[in-house]
Amino acid sequence: MTGFSRTPTDLVCDGVSLSAIAHAAGTPTYVYSAPLVRERYRAIDQAFGDHPHRLHYALKANSTLAIAHLLAGIGSAADANSIWEIELARKAGFAPADIVFTGVGKSPAELECAVPLGLKAINVESVGELARVEAIAARLGLVARVALRVNPDIDAKSHPHISTGLKINKFGIPLDEVRALYGSMSGRPHLKLVALHVHVGSQIVSTDPLARAAAVVSDLAADVRSHGVTLEYLDLGGGLGIPYDGGSVPTPGEYASALLAASAASGLPIVLEPGRAIVGPAGVLLARVIDVKPRNADSDFAVLDAGMSELMRPALYGAYHLIEPVHPRLDSTRQYELVGPICESTDVVGRDRVLPLLEVGDLVAIRDAGAYGAAMASNYNRHPLPAEVLVDAGGWRVVRQRQSIEDMTVLETL
Ligand code: LLP
Repeated sequence: MTGFSRTPTDLVCDGVSLSAIAHAAGTPTYVYSAPLVRERYRAIDQAFGDHPHRLHYALKANSTLAIAHLLAGIGSAADANSIWEIELARKAGFAPADIVFTGVGKSPAELECAVPLGLKAINVESVGELARVEAIAARLGLVARVALRVNPDIDAKSHPHISTGLKINKFGIPLDEVRALYGSMSGRPHLKLVALHVHVGSQIVSTDPLARAAAVVSDLAADVRSHGVTLEYLDLGGGLGIPYDGGSVPTPGEYASALLAASAASGLPIVLEPGRAIVGPAGVLLARVIDVKPRNADSDFAVLDAGMSELMRPALYGAYHLIEPVHPRLDSTRQYELVGPICESTDVVGRDRVLPLLEVGDLVAIRDAGAYGAAMASNYNRHPLPAEVLVDAGGWRVVRQRQSIEDMTVLETL
């Protein structure tokens, strides 16, 4: 079995003991399974079968260089959300022609760098941004490849903080404005409209909103064609959820069938931007219990050495991550509030969890932390960014060292 599994004595990642990794690399440490990243990428890729398509891995989910490099190496393209993610992507081995540049606020400096790169597309989020891209391209004597990000006013039915497809959300261009725009595109020689783009949210657990969004851009594509503009592809974004709490999510096959059916009428190739579905389950955050103290009659606090500075999702979205001791004491259980060491009451990693008895020094694994974990870590309370380890080919290596106080302060002066 690929990824994380249990032996009678240990939790292992592709046969490598997590306690051995924690012993050598310390905690908190992210551990990723390279075979599982590959397997999950391929499962989605293969689900689209012979239909012309390309997966642009969403770097925002996890842009650790080694992860990005691994995905570039197996044929993935990239979705970048800032000029720095574009630079990271290039360091990792992605060619500019395999990068789409999304993002609701691309600064003038970012656009200035991005326009001459020859990206696959700049996914434009407003009428104003389109004009700014055009002005730069005209000044440089270039033709910029652009996609229009459509706001389809569709509810992704995910957590409101990670839903992006409603009119009230800041993302994309409203449908009526899109319709007004593409009519004018053929008269703008420094812009080439190559695609329509839609992304309605993340951690989406039913195919319905994804298919509805795909149908909206597929219909728009027909209109675009009637205005004499030939699109190269439809970019249907990311968003496929993972079963954090064991609930059901669409399989890659169900996901692909729904999107292919909804966009079939366009007859266009498809670009997808999956992030979480590829890397989420392929990572855990290893942490140690550094204190146990009474909470109330029914439960104790277990204070971990990892909290919201390492994994922000529970504090920010009330997100659930399964937490399990690496060496469970099987004789008795207790209810715990698993908290981090940060001085905020929202720094709770796991609420009301019934777990085998925990003691100071125990190692726990916070599961499904490969996406939006390390990528969102911070130095709050001067916590060093955690170490990151990649398990591959039966061995493991540190792919990002734990920050030191020198690393943390290198850009500061007294
Ligand atoms: N494309 C665009 C334009 C996006 O905004 C995103 C995610 C993706 C693709 C990738 O979506 P995915 O396949 O990973 O769902 N920090 C939050 C998630 C924020 C997602 C932002 N955009 C979390 O921890 O749940």
